[in-house]
Amino acid sequence: MRAEASKEETKKTKRVLVTDHISEEGIRKLKEFAEVDIELELSKEELKRCIAGYDALIVRSGTKVTKEIIEAGSDGKLKVIGRAGVGVDNIDVVTATERGIMVVNAPEANTISAAEHTIAMLLSLSRKIPTANMSLKSGKWERKKHMGVEVNDKVLGIIGLGRVGSEVAKRAKGLGMKVVAYDPFISAERARELGIVLSSFTEVLSIADFISLHTPLTKDTHHLIGGKEFELMKDGVRVINCARGGIIDEGALEVALKSGKVAGAALDVFEHEPPGENELLGMEEVIVTPHLGASTEEAQKAAAMVIAEEVIEALKNKTARNAVNMIYVEEELLGALKPYLVLAEKLGRLLAQLIPKSCRVEQFSVSYEGEIGASEAGLGKNTRLITVAMLKSFLSWFTDGVNYVNAEAIAKKFGIKVTESRTEDIENFSSLISVATSLWAEGKGKERKTVAGTLFGKNDPRIVKIDEYRVDASPSGYMLICSFLDKPRVIGPVCMILGDRGINIAGMQVGREKVGGEAVMVLNVDGSVSEETMEEIKGVENIFDVKLVRL
Ligand code: NAD
Ligand code: MLT
Repeated sequence: MRAEASKEETKKTKRVLVTDHISEEGIRKLKEFAEVDIELELSKEELKRCIAGYDALIVRSGTKVTKEIIEAGSDGKLKVIGRAGVGVDNIDVVTATERGIMVVNAPEANTISAAEHTIAMLLSLSRKIPTANMSLKSGKWERKKHMGVEVNDKVLGIIGLGRVGSEVAKRAKGLGMKVVAYDPFISAERARELGIVLSSFTEVLSIADFISLHTPLTKDTHHLIGGKEFELMKDGVRVINCARGGIIDEGALEVALKSGKVAGAALDVFEHEPPGENELLGMEEVIVTPHLGASTEEAQKAAAMVIAEEVIEALKNKTARNAVNMIYVEEELLGALKPYLVLAEKLGRLLAQLIPKSCRVEQFSVSYEGEIGASEAGLGKNTRLITVAMLKSFLSWFTDGVNYVNAEAIAKKFGIKVTESRTEDIENFSSLISVATSLWAEGKGKERKTVAGTLFGKNDPRIVKIDEYRVDASPSGYMLICSFLDKPRVIGPVCMILGDRGINIAGMQVGREKVGGEAVMVLNVDGSVSEETMEEIKGVENIFDVKLVRL
């Protein structure tokens, strides 16, 4: 009895805070292990004040888990953030990772519900069901006004052929639709398996009668569909967004609807949720639901159960299956390996931000040189883990739900060939890790991007190569990477522009192949740089390109 009682006491030393509604089944599961507080009305300030007292925070999309909240949590007990759903765009994963807080999600729990909701929106839009319903209930009998269109034989363009996109495609085919899709990370083989034609972004936009969006919301997909894209679409196109608000530029959608270019839109998600005063809500051609894609009993139960299990595993220091940002390695290996894993994550994230938008990644080649490349000896035994760490942080830039367990499988699904090579031979460093991607970019053809890093001392990660250029940059915070022609009056003006904007330069490195040739400049800056400032830097004579990356 005494043993039982003390087991019970240890179980309840953990505290979990739930700030969005999740199913009772998940709450029950959590309560078997921890004390659970459910607080659905907390303000940002209240959450910031209380979070440090909890080991875990569980949210859906309603709670914005910002940098400040994560920092407040990590100054206390917070170890894990659970997202009872797939999208982690409401969580600052970069800060959580930096603070060693695991983020776990339930990527598959609501896929079917989201796909079914998309189909419901597609049919409601084509047959004007919501407006017809309202009209009849208000006493009218308007049969002509609610004339619809068939979906049979129409072209459905899917942007983002991941979990939800694929399920939508299957169902749309069952409705007799012709499905085309754009997804730069999906292999032709995977598309063939689904019986779907993969096309370029512009082709999909220009031939589809209906366009349905299924990408995650990232820096690259923010306003993926704006004025220019609407122009490319067929007159009378209908657009469905059950993915994330922010993928469509709502202002541009409004203009396209008013001009008649877009005949209708079905929106489950909004740039701001709840949307408040939003012109789109008052338009007859627009049908809306309040982020209901995952709102089914089945999906909510599954998401709550998965997230409860994941959070419990994480709090027991076990490997959570759906960890978005953390690795678990046996205790005895961890010490020596950890700095390399940190370096690998930085290299993967850097590379992801340097590759051009809308390109297909064909190969991800990692090479280990020197001590780290000594095959089957010491650390060399663990290069696969380091490769996975790099791949995970690279892929996480483009899709949600990648973790140490599934990174290779996801790369395979996307048609990315991952290779590893090792050699003991090395010059200049004791160990060097390089990663190169072979890319296929729309309108440009084949390209290659390479970054390499090493450790100074035992655990000081450095970026030492970008493409062919030798640099020495500390991979942290914000970095500006500019390629330019090595001539006078380039570096000075760039520094002046930053200085005039009050942006402090914490470090600067220039790498060049030969005097007067192409060169690269890496600036560590103490804060973000606005689009406007980036444009100004791009305007400096002899600058070819500038990228702002966050590591
Ligand atoms: P997923 O990661 O399985 O699929 C996303 C796909 O988008 C991937 O195949 C990726 O390669 C592709 N992609 C990334 N960038 C792209 C780009 N620029 N152009 C084209 N394709 C790109 O994600 P999922 O589980 O299928 O979820 C898809 C979206 O739906 C996410 O935004 C998710 O948050 C959202 N979602 C919403 C609800 C809801 O309640 N409305 C429910 C579930 C999922
Ligand atoms: C998700 O990302 O899983 C969806 O937005 C569903 C949700 O959490 O409501």
